[in-house]
Amino acid sequence: CGIVGYTGFQDAYEIVINGLRRLEYRGYDSAGIVLEGSDRKFEVEKTKGKVDDLVNISAQLKGTAKIGMGHTRWATHGVPSDRNSHPHLSNNNKIALVHNGIIENYDTIKKMLTEKGFTFKSETDTEVLVNLIQYFMDVNTEIDFPTAVRYALNEVYGAYAITVLHEDYPGVLVVGRLGSPLAIGIGDKEYFIASDASPFVEFTKEAIYLEEGHMATISLENGVDIRTINDNSKIEPEIQELKLSLEQIEKGGYEHFMLKEIFEQPKSIHDTMRGRLLVDEGVIKMAGIWDHVERFKNANRIIIIACGTSWHAGLIGEYLIEEYARIPVEVEYASEFRYRNPIITDKDVVIAISQSGETADTMAALKLAKEKGAFIYGICNVVDSSIARITDAGSYTHAGPEIGVASTKAFTAQLTILTLIAFKLGKHNGNLGNAEFMSLISELDAIPKKIEEVLSTTHELTQNIAKDFVNATNFLYLGRGYNYPAALEGALKLKEISYIHAEGYPAAEMKHGPIALIDENMPIVIIAPKKGHYDKIVSNVQEIKARKGKVIAVVNKGDQQVSSMADYVIEIPETSECFSPIVASVPLQLLAYYIAVYRGANVDQPRNLAKSVTVE
Ligand code: G6P
Repeated sequence: CGIVGYTGFQDAYEIVINGLRRLEYRGYDSAGIVLEGSDRKFEVEKTKGKVDDLVNISAQLKGTAKIGMGHTRWATHGVPSDRNSHPHLSNNNKIALVHNGIIENYDTIKKMLTEKGFTFKSETDTEVLVNLIQYFMDVNTEIDFPTAVRYALNEVYGAYAITVLHEDYPGVLVVGRLGSPLAIGIGDKEYFIASDASPFVEFTKEAIYLEEGHMATISLENGVDIRTINDNSKIEPEIQELKLSLEQIEKGGYEHFMLKEIFEQPKSIHDTMRGRLLVDEGVIKMAGIWDHVERFKNANRIIIIACGTSWHAGLIGEYLIEEYARIPVEVEYASEFRYRNPIITDKDVVIAISQSGETADTMAALKLAKEKGAFIYGICNVVDSSIARITDAGSYTHAGPEIGVASTKAFTAQLTILTLIAFKLGKHNGNLGNAEFMSLISELDAIPKKIEEVLSTTHELTQNIAKDFVNATNFLYLGRGYNYPAALEGALKLKEISYIHAEGYPAAEMKHGPIALIDENMPIVIIAPKKGHYDKIVSNVQEIKARKGKVIAVVNKGDQQVSSMADYVIEIPETSECFSPIVASVPLQLLAYYIAVYRGANVDQPRNLAKSVTVE
């Protein structure tokens, strides 16, 4: 979910609505706004649907207030509906609250409040929290509004970022955070609140990222007062300079963020390597690794934890690190790892990969590993995100903000970092000889150029192929070795944005199940570069053609054998096997993108998904 809040001299409606649009990638089942006009009365509008739907019912609020807040939701408790949309009001209609996250013990609190006579209009955990705040003010008239919020937060478990307004405290915004991110923008005679800095970056470059377990009371009169939620200790705010620019978070002439981000990859990969890959000097500089290189060198094993696309990057990381650094690697879904009582010791290194740096399961898995004494390392894209902050060390991917819900440039940036780590560790522990190291790093340096070439040679081609598969109901994606995870990722891209069922499989494993599905209606994308079990893949293609499957082959330029059997051929430049997932992923992103576009799907905001899943 996304939260925006404002107090200042500008029109709060405009700020909140524009901010919600920027945060819509975080969830878009429903949206809502509350404004506090000069008469101190709340005006609330909320609806199922997108921010545009909210605008349709709320335009009359324009220009009516200088204080307000809004929310865009990704449903957890209760279906997307007008009723379940935020803001939620307390029974006395005096307190309004927007919330991102989950209150895990809401049921117990709801029972307690129901016994005291409170009633509930929605099925949400949020409505329970807002009433708990009212309850504390009802039973103890001595305490003020921020104190009541603090009392209430001390009663709830779970993960949250909240913003609260009270009609009797005009101009005061109370915010709190545990688990879900919240940033406070500091302007000149105005304050902004948002789940990330994008809603206010055009107005101010100064921000405070609220820490876990902290709350803040914000008003024009008294500024920002930060306290710990558990014991009300005062905290000195740490103001940070934002590096984000407005241009980075706008579409720049592309029809969708996803397409823009696909096309940004030559630059984003270059940015990931900048200052790290020094080919002329023959070194990879990565302070995060170098400062702790003995931990890596002496590690029993490396465990990579992640979710979604980042998990696919982790699988490729396993191939890379095992091949070049010869350190055993295991890759796990964060959600599984955290609940299965894993064996972790202080000899383990745990690497978390997360674009957003906020994924709840990844965060929880990391905390568990940390408790058990492992050294924890983060690969995050969002600077200062929660995961980036709790890790012992890490490397940012520096791919720039990724807004499209389907991850593209963040994925190839993660692969770039993992490649650098594998080469760096391999060189250090002697498993990667100097000559091979030199040849690999100069090849890596040339990857952005190769991506540029792939974008220009496959852009039109993938559109043409996409047209033939608009009505497909299933897809198989196959690859071997490094390209097996690339096949999983290709399938995930298609599934996420086009809603076509797609499965990725190791090509040889096809014989043990998926082959039963193959007939003339089954499209099969097969990644078959020259280096990497090519002959074996040739046999797999023969097996598919014998069953009349439609083959879309991703091959190297000048390929003969697979190309002669395939129905569609996408050529990419030849690379060492370890780089092929980076290069092969690009046309697969384009293919998924165009199939989805031709099906009329909302590519940047696919149904039911969210960019940053801050609930488990
Ligand atoms: C969500 C997103 C995916 C992403 C996954 C992990 O499901 O829709 O695109 O791969 O979360 O996110 P993270 O930010 O941890 O990489």
